[in-house]
Parts: sequence; structure tokens; C-alpha cells
Amino acid sequence: MIVAIDGPAGAGKSTVSRLLASRLGWTYLDTGALYRAVTLLALEQELPLAYGDELGLLARNAEISFSPGPGGAPRVFAGCREVTEAIRSPEVSAAVSQVSAHAQVREALLAHQRRFAAAGDVIVDGRDIGTVVFPGAEVKIFLTADVAERARRRRLELAEKGIGVTQERMLAEIEARDAYDSGRDVAPLRAAEDAVVLDTTEMGIDEVVSAIADVIEERRRG
Ligand code: DC
Repeated sequence: MIVAIDGPAGAGKSTVSRLLASRLGWTYLDTGALYRAVTLLALEQELPLAYGDELGLLARNAEISFSPGPGGAPRVFAGCREVTEAIRSPEVSAAVSQVSAHAQVREALLAHQRRFAAAGDVIVDGRDIGTVVFPGAEVKIFLTADVAERARRRRLELAEKGIGVTQERMLAEIEARDAYDSGRDVAPLRAAEDAVVLDTTEMGIDEVVSAIADVIEERRRG
């Protein structure tokens, strides 16, 4: 079974997907990590972020892989180099929307994502999973929350890693990313028509995980 979890930045997709996958013993694919890894490589190679063809080629040739990490959080590799931490840097976060807006980049990563479906039971999180990557997914969830709450969550997440960002700056970054991800021409962020929409502003993580687990259980019973 494929479970697609889409939604804007900071809605809790990756935490929820990770917990859900470990609760069910399923595989978790963090598709944002793929876009982030390509962005990191582009920044390192000083490739201009407007060069769609070159970025697409980079995405096609990037050997991005995952391995299980502590607490079910996947470790991310580009070739044999671990980039788990590097892809979460503020520089990558600021550039990733621009890189992921290129059709050539999305096309290159599409095949990569679809190969995962072969893994059997998978939880896949991203922006266009239920609409473009796996339109036939048996379960589609669209997670959202107030923008101020999403900024607060992202800020706390970064603070745990020792990165201090003000609420104002976080809010500006999230709003910019929302606008970019929702406004792009190719595979914009939006809920699939058959997605279950969950507003998590006032929900705890466990509550969200249980709500999705219930939807999965319901679909499995058919
Ligand atoms: O989920 P995240 O914040 O790690 O995602 C980083 C960026 O990657 C996000 O701002 C847009 C892009 N992305 C995308 O365009 N499509 C996906 N399926 C996943 C992420």
C-alpha cells in the first residue's frame, strides 16, 4: 500500500511519516530530502539556480540514497558522502524551492521516487505525491496548520540542532516557500481531490499519527 502525505513546510509531515512508518514497520521516503540533496550539490558546484537543464542533469546523475538512522529518521547520502545534516542548512532551505520548481529536476526525481513503490508498504511525504508521483495511492493525506504554528515548529526543530532563528525570520521564510511551492507551474502544492485534509494546528503529534493510522486501517479493511 502507498500512503501519500502532502502539505506545506512545517506541517509536521516528516515527523508524522517517520513515526507512522516505524509504528507500522513500513518504509518511509522523504522526497523533500531528494530535492534538498540536489540543491546542496548545486550550491556546492555554484550552479546558477535558474539553469533548469543543468540542474536536471545534476538531479539525474546524483546518486541519492537512504539508510535507516536513529529513531527511524533516515540518513541521506549523495554518492558515498553523508549529507543528512547538510541538507537541512538555512542556505539549502532558502534555495530548495527555486531548484524544485524546474520541470527538468522534477522529471529526473520522478523515476527515483517511483522505484520506491516497489518496496511494498510505503509512506511517502512531499508536495505532489498524491497528485503527480503516486496519483493512485490508496491513502492520501494533506497535512496543514496555521502558518504561525508551522513557523514555530520549524524554529523549535532548528533550535534542537543549535540553529537559532527568530520567529519573524522563520515566518518570512515559510511564507516565501509556501508561495513558491504553491505558485509554480509544474506540480504545485495542492491537496489531491481524494485526499483527507487534516489541520494539525491544535493537534499533538501522536494524535495526528493515530488519525492517519485509523484512515489506513479503514482502507485496508476495504
Ligand atoms: O519537505 P521539505 O521542507 O524538506 O521540502 C523541501 C522543498 O522541496 C520544498 O520547499 C519544495 C520541494 N519539494 C517538492 O517540490 N516536492 C516534493 N515532493 C517534496 C519537496
